[in-house]
Amino acid sequence: MMFLPLILAATVLTPVLAQTPSIKQTVGTWQYKGCYRDFGPRILTFRYTIPAGNSADSCTALCNSEGYGLAGLEYGTECWCDNYMPYGNLMPDSDCNFVCPGDSTQLCGAGNRMVLYENNAATPPSPDTCITWRDGFSFGNNVLQAIPKTGGAVTKLFAIPTNPFTDPIYYTIISTCPAGCPYTDYYNFGLVNGILTSYNSRPIAPNVGDAQSFIFRWPQTVVGYNGYCAKPNPISPNGPFIGYPLLSASGNTDLWALCTNTTDNNRLDIVYSPVANHPHYTLSACQEVYIQMAPYS
Ligand SMILES: *[C@@H]1O[C@H](CO)[C@@H](O)[C@H](O)[C@H]1NC(C)=O
Repeated sequence: MMFLPLILAATVLTPVLAQTPSIKQTVGTWQYKGCYRDFGPRILTFRYTIPAGNSADSCTALCNSEGYGLAGLEYGTECWCDNYMPYGNLMPDSDCNFVCPGDSTQLCGAGNRMVLYENNAATPPSPDTCITWRDGFSFGNNVLQAIPKTGGAVTKLFAIPTNPFTDPIYYTIISTCPAGCPYTDYYNFGLVNGILTSYNSRPIAPNVGDAQSFIFRWPQTVVGYNGYCAKPNPISPNGPFIGYPLLSASGNTDLWALCTNTTDNNRLDIVYSPVANHPHYTLSACQEVYIQMAPYS
């Protein structure tokens, strides 16, 4: 008998249902692009605080005023901005389920989940300029993939040895791993302060016509060539603001090729700007590719 009045009271006081919050699809020229995973290196670089309350409206307005073409809402309260998003792990919309503190009808991402907006009216970053990069792991947070310049299927790339491990100086090159290849662990690469890394190896500045090689056991005095960077991907299926960046060496993203190594079981090796009359490959058997940097996992 004691509980009956409470039940009645609860029934009577049931409020009119609030609007179910959802991801806002457009804000002016800004368009919703998806719910992305944000784990490991941040997918957007610049973080802002919006004390008055985060929402798609306030965050896109802030990124717009700061000159960015991308805006991301995460964990309810966070607003991130950038001009390029290098990692593209798209998750289900249902993952981005935190209500926006500034507008209870909207959703503002979740833990490690970002609601991303792109400004259709913004100028995309030039494919010739290096993007802001934040891979701080020399162990490597990326895999490298060769992709034909016209797009299409990618070929996974590895750092493979070209001489015995017992040599005082042990070289690796960027290559492919044919079936049965024992080097399948050697496929994570990093980009730290302009230095391309593969485990703790040090890159050698690319020589025209040769493989991209690394010294694996280096004298401590060898710093490694630091002329690498990541650039926007001009053939990204996700448009000019989002994509797996291209590896640039000595200013170039478009000089890489996959060439058949005629002196090493016809393995496909990455060559920087292939030349005629090379001892290890035939120029006409090389395919021009880009090297794109995809997330490790
Ligand atoms: C081809 O194989 C040889 C022997 O392993 C190696 O030294 C060379 O770096 C490989 N690739 C190219 C493109 O020369």
